[in-house]
Amino acid sequence: MYNEKVIEYAKNPRNQGGMDNPDAVGEISNPDCGDATTIFLKVENNIIVDVKFDTFGCAAAVATSSKLTEMVKGKSIDDALEITDEMVADELGGLPLKKMHCSNIGIDALREAIKEYKENN
Ligand code: FES
Ligand code: FES
Repeated sequence: MYNEKVIEYAKNPRNQGGMDNPDAVGEISNPDCGDATTIFLKVENNIIVDVKFDTFGCAAAVATSSKLTEMVKGKSIDDALEITDEMVADELGGLPLKKMHCSNIGIDALREAIKEYKENN
């Protein structure tokens, strides 16, 4: 069902884990399946200098959350807000259509974290 790149990211996720003293945290769970993703951010001068994720979910959710962290590192928080689920899926060479919604939880968690950061800074 998944292409090789998705499987590789699901098996060896980049930037997985927690973070000491993050500048912002966003947590989202999907009401349909109960899966959840947390995104931790370190931000300096509005640039995301470090990002980690922790996902409790299917292979698509892990792979897309991991790919997302690679895509946002070094970006400004406003540029990071422009990233869409299609962009993440494209970077992974595509996802099965019925798994596209799984790619939303990482992005939604990222947007929560950025919102929290903006509220506090
Ligand atoms: Fe829950 Fe994909 S099935 S995140
Ligand atoms: Fe739950 Fe995909 S089925 S996120």
